[in-house]
Amino acid sequence: MDPFKFGQVVSGNDFCPRPDLTKSVMNYIKQGQNIYVQGERRIGKTSLIYETCRRLKKYRTVYIDLFGVKSSDILAKRIVKAIISMEQKESGLFSKIFKTFSHLRPSFTVDPITGLPSISLDAAVKMTPDDIETVLDLITEIQTSQKPVVVVFDEFQDILKLKDAPETLAIMRSKIQFQSNIPYIFAGSLRNKMDEIFIGPESPFFKSAVLVAVGPLAETSFKNYIVKRFNDGGRSINADALNRVFELAGNISGDIQQLCSALWSTSDTGETIEQNNIAKAVELIFAREAKVYEADINTISDQQFRCLTGIARHGGKALTSSRFLMNIGIPSSASVLKALERLIQLRIILKRGDEYKFTNPFFRAWLLYKNF
Ligand SMILES: Nc1ncnc2c1ncn2[C@@H]1O[C@H](COP(=O)(O)OP(=O)(O)OP(=O)(O)O)[C@@H](O)[C@H]1O
Ligand SMILES: [Mg+2]
Repeated sequence: MDPFKFGQVVSGNDFCPRPDLTKSVMNYIKQGQNIYVQGERRIGKTSLIYETCRRLKKYRTVYIDLFGVKSSDILAKRIVKAIISMEQKESGLFSKIFKTFSHLRPSFTVDPITGLPSISLDAAVKMTPDDIETVLDLITEIQTSQKPVVVVFDEFQDILKLKDAPETLAIMRSKIQFQSNIPYIFAGSLRNKMDEIFIGPESPFFKSAVLVAVGPLAETSFKNYIVKRFNDGGRSINADALNRVFELAGNISGDIQQLCSALWSTSDTGETIEQNNIAKAVELIFAREAKVYEADINTISDQQFRCLTGIARHGGKALTSSRFLMNIGIPSSASVLKALERLIQLRIILKRGDEYKFTNPFFRAWLLYKNF
């Protein structure tokens, strides 16, 4: 069976140890210190938080994913659902919680096809930012010294998309600052948005949490982890191929595992994986992801497409230089900047320092492969 996991949280044996970060998050939690966890996409933020909370056996976690929240009503309901699902496992205060939210008519349903359970709340009852205050108060009530609570807001930057974002943030902040014994963890991958929340002087969350930056896994231990997984499955990978994997995946944990998974699928038991196995594995990734790439291309303009293929071919630095403009056939640097801005907005590329990079390294490779 394929031992590589990507696109999902990894924990326990699947979690390649990162002792320094785990320890520091653990200490912050024990101190009741609020933190914000920041790092590139697919680098391992959620897994770090999840694994750390799991190891702190005494603690219970209220985990709220803000991905795609569109209104404070949805946000408040996600928090309610997170509390209900945590208490459901614990059962201690479950009936009290259920009663508190009875006006939302919570109900449990099991998808008859997948068999997966879910909680639903009455969509007709609208919740407001003020209700978030009540909901956060409840967290204080369920917290005890024997069973302390950690609250995790993942993809927290998405809160900025709410129409009433400033009001919602202000209410959350005013509540959270008085809950000094409850550690809150805010995680997100869009650095400038997270900075806007935590270091923007205008923001209610200004200086309210300590930064924990999540970078790539330590190379040697991640390489050992990968080699062991291939070996345990009766295969091996040579050092050159492994280096190439790290390089191609831009040192991003999830992309490295994705490529290893494709190498696994395109090799056989007893085989030693070498550099020339990589092309086949990458083609498999292309086959699986081409639809997404094509959809992205269909949403962008000709100029944006020129910039994108230009970055794929010539790299992401000095994009307003006359040389780059000439290479991509766009006469003005202002047009390039505008196109880049849009590509960032679409999350196709991102900017790090003075360099523009592909969010997905396989998309870049695909554009080259297609000779675009
Ligand atoms: N400690 C780890 N050990 C092994 N693999 C890891 C580890 N952390 C992350 N990964 C790899 O990265 C993938 C993404 O991890 P995770 O979802 O935790 O990242 P994230 O930073 O929260 O991503 P996103 O920005 O998409 O939310 C995992 O599925 C796994 O392949
Ligand atoms: Mg995540």
